[in-house]
This record gives sequence, C-alpha cells and structure tokens, in this order.
Amino acid sequence: MRSGHQLQDYRCGGTTTRHPVAVGPLQPEPRKREHSDRELDTTAVAVNVSPRHAFGVNPAPDTSAAPPFLGVDPSATGCSSLGPYTVSGAAPCRLPGLPIASATVAHNPGRRLHGDPVYLDYAATTPVDPRIIEAMSQCLGRDGVFGNPASRPHLFGREASEAVEKARAQVAGLIGADPGEIVWTSGATESVNLAIKGLVHAASSSGGHVVTSSMEHRAVLDTCAHLESEGYEVTYVDPDSDGMVTPERIRSVLREETILVSLMHVNNEVGTVTDVGAVGAVLRAQKTVLHVDAAQSAPRLPLDVRELGADVVSLSGHKMYGPKGVGALYVRSTRPPRIEPQMHGGEQEHGLRSGTLPTHQIVGMGMAAQLVRQRRTRDTATARSLDRRLRERLDDIPQTSFNGNQEERVPGIVNVSFACVDSEALMMALREDVAISSGSACTSARVESSHVLRALGVSDDAASSSVRFSLGRFTTEREVDRAAERVAEAVQTLRHLSPQWSKPGSWC
Ligand SMILES: Cc1ncc(COP(=O)(O)O)c(C=O)c1O
Repeated sequence: MRSGHQLQDYRCGGTTTRHPVAVGPLQPEPRKREHSDRELDTTAVAVNVSPRHAFGVNPAPDTSAAPPFLGVDPSATGCSSLGPYTVSGAAPCRLPGLPIASATVAHNPGRRLHGDPVYLDYAATTPVDPRIIEAMSQCLGRDGVFGNPASRPHLFGREASEAVEKARAQVAGLIGADPGEIVWTSGATESVNLAIKGLVHAASSSGGHVVTSSMEHRAVLDTCAHLESEGYEVTYVDPDSDGMVTPERIRSVLREETILVSLMHVNNEVGTVTDVGAVGAVLRAQKTVLHVDAAQSAPRLPLDVRELGADVVSLSGHKMYGPKGVGALYVRSTRPPRIEPQMHGGEQEHGLRSGTLPTHQIVGMGMAAQLVRQRRTRDTATARSLDRRLRERLDDIPQTSFNGNQEERVPGIVNVSFACVDSEALMMALREDVAISSGSACTSARVESSHVLRALGVSDDAASSSVRFSLGRFTTEREVDRAAERVAEAVQTLRHLSPQWSKPGSWC
C-alpha cells in the first residue's frame, strides 16, 4: 500500500462517518536505527487499539501534519500477529461519537530511544552464551565432533557419545539427578508430551484421571486437552488470586484412580513459584506420579528432583542460555514410572525417545546447565536488584498494578497492568526500543487475553492491559532505566489517546 491521505468511511452502530486519514503500509517499517527527532516525535492519529477494544480515530486529525505512515486501512480484516494493527469483526463501540470500524490500523512507531533496543523477554528465550556457541560449533564440521553418538564402534561416534554423556552429567548435576535419569528431547514441549501422554497411556489405555492447573503452559494444557479427546478425565485446578496453586487444592481433587499430577514450578507469565515439593509429599503416600514442568525454574531456582519428590521433570535448553531445539526429561530411576514412547525408530535413549542425538545441541544444553549452576548466586543477586529497580520505576507510573503473588515469585519476571493501555498497542509503540511480551494469544479471529491472568481472576480489561518484562543474565541497570523511561512515555501517550482515561474515576 502506498502512503498518502484518503477519505475513509467508518461504521459504528449503524452510523457511517467519513474522515480523512493518512494511510500507510501495514507492515512495520524495516528497523531503522537512525531517525531524526523530528521524525520520531510524531503524534498518533490512531493508536491504542486492539480487536478487543474498539479503536478510536482522532476525530479531527491534522492529517497534513501527520506522518505518512500512520493511518487506517478498513479494507483489511482478520487477526495477525501484529496485534494492534488489526481489528477484526464488529468491534464494540466504546467511544461514543467517535468513528469505530472493523479495520486494520497501521503502526505508530512513536518516539524511539536513542541506542540499541533493550531485550526484556528472557522468559520467551535467552541468547546463547558465547562460550556455548563456541563449544557447539566444535561439534559440527569435519574437524570437529560430528560423528553419530550411536556409532560407538568407531572413534568419531565414540567422541560424540562422550560429548553427549558429559552433557548428560552436566544437566543431571543441575537438578540433583543421576546422568542415567536424563532423556534428551527437542525441548520442553516434547518433554511434556512424552511425560504426560507417555505416563498416562502406559498406565491405562482405557481412560483415567489427570490433575493439572489452569495456569500451566500451553504445552501442558493442550496435551491434557488431547488426552480428554481420547477419553481421559482431566481436572484443572485454579490458582488463588495470587497465582498460587496450593498442595491443599491439589489434594482436594485427587482420586484413587488419579494417574498423574502435572504442575509447573515457575509460571512463565507471572513468575509465581508453586510449592511442588509439598505436592510431591502429598503424592508420596499414593501411586500418583508427579510431573514438574521446570522450563522456567531451572535457570532461576536451585532444583533438586529428589527433594521435590518429582518422578519426571521437563527442561528446556533455550530458557537457560543454551540453544533452541533441545530439552531433557528427567525420569526417576528408582521405581521408575512406566512411560510409553511417543517416537519410534532407532531405540535411542533406551527406546524412550528414538532419533539421532544432535550432539551440538546437547553439548550446548549441557554447558548451559553447568553455567547456570556455576553462576547461580551471582545471577540471582543481579536478578533481584534489577527486578527491584524495574518495579520501582514502573510503580512510579500512575494506575499500575502488579499481577501475581509478589512474595512467592522469582526475581526477573514482572507482570504488570497499566490501566487504559492496551497491551498490544503498548508493545507496538515500544517495538523498536524495548522487547517485552503480553500473554495474549492471537487466534484466527481475535486476540484472547492471557489464560494465566484469567485463571488468576484478573478482569478482562486489566488482562488486556498487561505485559510481561523478563530480565536475564545480560540485562543491565542502564537497560532497565531506559526501558522504564520509554514505557512511561508510551503509557502516557496511549492514555492520552484513550477517552476512557480522561473519564473521572474510570478504570479502563
Ligand atoms: C513453563 C514452560 N513450559 C514449557 C515451555 C515450552 O518450552 P520449549 O520452547 O522448550 O518447547 C515453555 C516455553 O515458553 C515454558 O515457559
């Protein structure tokens, strides 16, 4: 689409109005590092929108002064990952008198920070530690350890196998396990699938009962939904309003025929810590198996699988400064639970997970685990102080609330709602400067607010105003300050554009 100005019709509640708007490309501009202040300090014509919130277009935009990239394209519908670009369906009219339409909104880059963008999305993924990249690269080429670890009869295979076993010991060391208890997978999603489906199918092919919580990662929830489609029964325990799934809540839903309890240790959206050890103690008295999703806790908390009383534990490489595409499943070796393999083939990993082992990925994950262990004290202290700093800065922004229990939380995952600010719009306003995330999920037709915040009982409005900041090993104080400053500016701009914000006493 070419940039320019044109008259557009807007419908709201059967009334059509015509407004001049600047129309521009719907795709974000390619990242440009250099913008003059004149270019950057532009005012929005239409922002703070989302499929959930009807959007408002400035009724009398001075379009001649507006930047050419800003505008509205009502012809496009459907939901895209670009979040606030897209408004689909008939959005409810929340702005009486203002034009509302089903439309796609072009972006407003707003004012850009000078300097490199700040990455505060470590819970989504982490950059790979440079030492790990170096070690991985030595497992790929002709001069490196490229052999198939299963080809033990020759030197190349043996070298690879030794590298894999070293990494196995490193991962085991991180969680207090024996190396023989570690099964390599492609990531936590696969580990979770292997654990949940494998355990349940092995226990009973004709149905049974599973317990989990409603704030689990989709890897767990969707796997449980699949089991339900096969005839198994799943109980989803709700957390309390602080985001805590207590052992008492779990105990109250256990049955004689409960095969498995699956719980996350640290929640990826709000950072709350579940006392899985206490749940393990409850389960010790019965046959029910405990699966712990430790994808987020392994890089953040000391983990001892025996203390937790866990039978199976899922881990992910890329959440702990290792590579993507590798994970592990801990399977207890004493009274091992029976697990039905989900992949069939070369019988690697004692037949539990067939497939040629990716030496370089595994070496990367092993080193990552070792570094997490070595740096634990330092990384935790840094995360604590940066977390405090970020919270203080964000708390200075009016009408800000933090989600989830703030005491039983890992430092470094901060979930916050800014009243009257749509999270997708905020992320778009920041997208060149600060990388954060919202728990919203874009389906084919609409944006759904975070299932975790809904499980916590957060209102739809507050959930749609929530974003997650996650800090990590490479985060600096300066980055936290710059990010908070930029967020404060963007929040102010978006609120200024929200008619709800100016209504006395209103909470958007
Ligand atoms: C708690 C939790 N479990 C599981 C996963 C899935 O991990 P992976 O990306 O390794 O498949 C994630 C990733 O976001 C997570 O945060």
